[in-house]
Amino acid sequence: MIECKNLVKIYKNGDVETMALKGVSFHIEEGEFVAIIGPSGSGKSTLMHILGALDSPTSGEYFLDGQEVSKLNDDELSEIRKNKIGFVFQAFNLLPRATVLRNVMLPLLYTGTSQQEREEQAIKCLRYAGMEESKFHNRSNQLSGGQMQRVAIARALINNPSIILADEPTGNLDTKTSHVVMQAFQELHRKGHTIILITHEQEIAEFARRIISVRDGVIEKDAINEKYHA
Ligand SMILES: Nc1ncnc2c1ncn2[C@@H]1O[C@H](COP(=O)(O)OP(=O)(O)O)[C@@H](O)[C@H]1O
Ligand SMILES: [Mg+2]
Repeated sequence: MIECKNLVKIYKNGDVETMALKGVSFHIEEGEFVAIIGPSGSGKSTLMHILGALDSPTSGEYFLDGQEVSKLNDDELSEIRKNKIGFVFQAFNLLPRATVLRNVMLPLLYTGTSQQEREEQAIKCLRYAGMEESKFHNRSNQLSGGQMQRVAIARALINNPSIILADEPTGNLDTKTSHVVMQAFQELHRKGHTIILITHEQEIAEFARRIISVRDGVIEKDAINEKYHA
């Protein structure tokens, strides 16, 4: 489902070149739950931007569902993002004054789906993500951090994506809430979703089935997580 071959990313700022990825290759099958872990500056966000079709590699190949994403132009990349990828971010990225329901419906706004259909889809995704029904009409700024992240997960599911990409999704949460959110990802994994989660914390990575460690732009280790506890 995902195949990366020798991904290289070089950032150029004036005369300064930074090689953020130095030839990264891996395979992710449908239904896998993978954590990508590494210290700050190791290239995690760079990799996530490429996987999420937010940026292109300098060289190397990235295939998603058989399509070579690394060769696409900006418009084509935006189509991939819209149709194939569900994003969950550290900062939740919800509209604070909009209701829970509206936040989840939002990605469907320009897809020609009727208001009623959008609402039904959003309700389905919120239930699926385990959000309390009583909060559906609350504004998102009235929620706890854990609830906000559940809403963000529901929103990520609304376009029925091929992969869910989560960049430090527990970065703004306390330990206990982090674990609850990670259990929500495990639940999605059990239901067959493909999840790639970026983190710098070993404890968070251990919620995933497979852990890829990156350091200085290369993969240091790629192994099944023996401590996987579902
Ligand atoms: N837009 C950019 N321009 C120049 N250098 C960058 C840019 N983004 C990231 N880098 C550099 O690339 C390396 C990897 O960064 P990043 O992918 O953000 O790592 P991580 O997410 O693991 O902290 C770092 O040395 C960082 O300074
Ligand atoms: Mg980062």
